[in-house]
Amino acid sequence: MSAFSFKSMYFILKFRDAFLRPRKILNKIEGIRNGVSILDYGCGPGSFTMAAAEMVGKNGTVIAADIHPLAIKQIQKSASKRGLKNIKIILTGGNTGLPDSSIDIILLYYVLHDFHNPYGIIRELYRVLKSDGILTVIDHKLSDEEVNALINKSSSAFEFRNKINGKILVFVKTTANQG
Ligand SMILES: C[S@@+](CC[C@H](N)C(=O)[O-])C[C@H]1O[C@@H](n2cnc3c(N)ncnc32)[C@H](O)[C@@H]1O
Repeated sequence: MSAFSFKSMYFILKFRDAFLRPRKILNKIEGIRNGVSILDYGCGPGSFTMAAAEMVGKNGTVIAADIHPLAIKQIQKSASKRGLKNIKIILTGGNTGLPDSSIDIILLYYVLHDFHNPYGIIRELYRVLKSDGILTVIDHKLSDEEVNALINKSSSAFEFRNKINGKILVFVKTTANQG
């Protein structure tokens, strides 16, 4: 994505946030509380990263991962403006380098439809998620069935748990049928 496209996306997301309110969305997810670790994969300019970092407090961590250097730059800027020191940043198109089973909650928001290698990324998310962790997905371009199909075909063993607020699909990590 060019710098121009990224900046256009930034303004579109700002407009979206005025209606969507990332903090309100995250409040619906059981388990986001002080001390937990969250991976915001495809974090973009960081609307959900910032909200999550405020919610998990100084004992928690939010890892913001994105393929675009401008996303990383914007996250650094926003975190420093807000005085948030619990955000770690990873520039990546797939592999996170995070330890196995180290993350409580993954946010995969408005990005799944964009992946060129969705299965590899889903497997990576499966690897880093704790055994009782959850993967949460919002996608405005894919139907629930399409999201489920991508997750199921990835050779990971996520199981659909529920849909929150008519928008957020929640998957749990299981060990069954892992390919
Ligand atoms: C539409 S934005 C959504 C940003 C954020 N999740 C939100 O909802 O505010 C999608 C972001 O995903 C990033 N992205 C696309 N493909 C990616 C990949 N393979 N790995 C990591 N990030 C990716 C893009 O650079 C972009 O910043």
